[in-house]
Amino acid sequence: MTRGYISELAISPLNCQSNIEMISHSKPWINRKDISAVLRQMKTGMLARGLKVKEFETAISKFIGTKGTVAVGCGTSGLILSLRILDVGQGDEVILPTYVCHSVYDAVKQVGARPVLCDIGENWNMTIETVTPHISSSTKAIIVIHLFGNVVDTDSFMQFGVPVIEDCCQAFGAAANGKMLGSIGTIGVFSFHATKCLTTGEGGAVTTNDEDLLKRMNNFVKNGNPLVKLNDLQAWLGLSQLYRYTTMLARRQKIADFYTQQLRDLEIIIPENENCHSIYFRYPVRVRNHEYEQIQKAYHNLGIHVRRGVDKLLHRDLNLSDKYFPKAVRLFEQTLSLPIYPSLTKREQRKIVKVTKEIFHSKCN
Ligand SMILES: Cc1ncc(COP(=O)(O)O)c(C=O)c1O
Repeated sequence: MTRGYISELAISPLNCQSNIEMISHSKPWINRKDISAVLRQMKTGMLARGLKVKEFETAISKFIGTKGTVAVGCGTSGLILSLRILDVGQGDEVILPTYVCHSVYDAVKQVGARPVLCDIGENWNMTIETVTPHISSSTKAIIVIHLFGNVVDTDSFMQFGVPVIEDCCQAFGAAANGKMLGSIGTIGVFSFHATKCLTTGEGGAVTTNDEDLLKRMNNFVKNGNPLVKLNDLQAWLGLSQLYRYTTMLARRQKIADFYTQQLRDLEIIIPENENCHSIYFRYPVRVRNHEYEQIQKAYHNLGIHVRRGVDKLLHRDLNLSDKYFPKAVRLFEQTLSLPIYPSLTKREQRKIVKVTKEIFHSKCN
């Protein structure tokens, strides 16, 4: 496949069909049970934060295997809450990767601490090697991200002797060495945004096994802090999804297996080669020698929304040189995220494979 061919696909009037049915990049899976659960709760008239939220929190603690959980308004609120209960503030440093969404950086700024950015490894996540040079006496926390649902060995980051916040916003239900993510570090943070593996529309949760931190978290609830704004309607939706969550994850795995089997011979690097366990929140492929914008346009014109792995690199916003983040820069340029979610039909999956094959010639051709 040459760049020329991609640009033809991108601009060909034949492909610019305005009435083409688009396949979204992500989509929640809402079924009848979800709808009737929310309706049932509406009929009770209990719409604010109440017993259903408590039930949801208990169910999450059981699922993740932690002493406690506090439901929050979103993943970002969960990160802010975590930093607050760890007493992270002015003058403190928090380590996070440059390759992550902006809200993680915003959470650190929100508590007045200084975000210290590190590079990533081959599976899009930070590693011991990329974090070590940034550890200092001012480091008060490390935010370990399990991006794309890819599992990182959280345990190994505990060696630095500072609290580890496991950001599992993209990895609800993933496990490392038999332990659920969110139960391994000091604190676990989840997002239940509409695009995430499990959704409450917007929402999230903070988990911990530390009794003292749990007490502090619960004080936020007692005081009605805006960070913990999740209501009973949302909790019912979350519970309803949790009941079939194993099926949801199995569907993601099945789609990933189909893509892996079908895309193996193309001029792209598929997640299989990354040697990393994942729950496939995303199916990121790596393309080389192609312009991202042209590829995206080619997919779009053929009815498929694809995205970059992250929208931008944090260090570029801070005007830091690319030379300190070589892996993140390379992966940012190369990564293309294909649609993957439980409600993706077989017909849509086949179309995604067909279009991907059309765009990237088989190595065998
Ligand atoms: C890795 C990661 N952390 C934190 C967040 C923030 O979660 P929320 O959008 O629920 O605030 C997100 C959301 O996209 C995320 O992907």
